[in-house]
Amino acid sequence: MKFFIDTADVAEIRSLIDTGFVDGVTTNPTLIARSGRGMVETIAEICGLVEGPVSAEVTASDLEGMLAEGRFLAKIATNVTIKVPLTPDGLKACRVLTQEGHKVNVTLCFSPAQALLAAKAGATFISPFVGRLDDVGESGMTLIDEIIQIYDHYPHLNTEVLVASVRNPLHVVEAALAGADVVTLPPSVVRQLYNHPLTDKGIALFTADWAKTGQSIL
Ligand code: E4P
Repeated sequence: MKFFIDTADVAEIRSLIDTGFVDGVTTNPTLIARSGRGMVETIAEICGLVEGPVSAEVTASDLEGMLAEGRFLAKIATNVTIKVPLTPDGLKACRVLTQEGHKVNVTLCFSPAQALLAAKAGATFISPFVGRLDDVGESGMTLIDEIIQIYDHYPHLNTEVLVASVRNPLHVVEAALAGADVVTLPPSVVRQLYNHPLTDKGIALFTADWAKTGQSIL
């Protein structure tokens, strides 16, 4: 399962690259706004740091606007993935941009029917939002299971399931158990993945016992 980082904060991305776990980046208008920087310069900088796909989201809501913005964003760097919303015009834009050879991430997916449409429109990635579904009392992970089950029936559909709106390590584990292709993680969740209280306790014990021996490996 690939790990994308869900942020437009370049300093955060830089600090996580050394982990070796960064396979790509996703951004959205909220994350760009939170960064306080210009979208184009930010996407360009991220694309220079990360070899994998970097999602940059269109903001137009009509087909022509999405196509114009998508083509513009794709010129920023070869690893830009154009992100479009799951609307009728968004899926038309997905089909056209895909046929032009661009990678497209269809975002704001909340149902298996929507995911099926995105795959039929040729999406490179479908982004189901698990956290936002959990927030309204539905099961985000049930949606992931259902999308994967549907896609598995139709091997000619090449759309990758990109689990988005991730809130905690359990979402990551459940996405992996379900067989998702990608999970996009806020930096805070990446850091949480390393943690277990028994690991800390074990290190403290080993360190104390080692000190008692008076030895040193080097
Ligand atoms: C990523 O592609 C999505 O835009 C993002 O994961 C949404 O996360 P949120 O629900 O925490 O805003």
